[in-house]
Amino acid sequence: MKVVIFFLVLTVQVTALVSCVGTIPHLDEKQIRYAQTKWFGTSLLDLQRGRELYIVKCSGCHPLYEPANRSELQWEEILKEMKSRVKISEDETALMLKYLVSARNSSLQRDSLNTD
Ligand code: HEC
Repeated sequence: MKVVIFFLVLTVQVTALVSCVGTIPHLDEKQIRYAQTKWFGTSLLDLQRGRELYIVKCSGCHPLYEPANRSELQWEEILKEMKSRVKISEDETALMLKYLVSARNSSLQRDSLNTD
């Protein structure tokens, strides 16, 4: 429950900060669980940071792309390619990839995960 409240507080803060990019999804609990299973040790803050970085670093030249519109492999390739255009570190790239892959995955897996 604590985690849920923490998440809600963060969501409100981040939404207030970046209300102009409402189409870039926040992660729900299932997406966070997905990320934590896939990358052991991933925290909610990592994922929030990944989303913020994506919004801040990747919106300068073109509208932001929906996470669900590219596959995991495509996101990996895209981030490698965009690294030549925008200054992002390895760590920042990894956080963005975690966010993008988690965000796309739960929209695809929402039904199968919806068992509890
Ligand atoms: C300096 C400008 C610039 C920045 C900053 C930038 N991009 Fe791009 N991006 C481009 C241009 C130009 C294209 C179209 C040409 C191309 O595809 O190479 C593009 C195309 C894309 C595409 C569509 C191409 C595809 O292969 O699907 C995606 C997705 C994308 N960018 C994601 C990102 C992400 C993620 C970031 C942040 C890490 C980012 N961009 C930051 C200039 C930029």
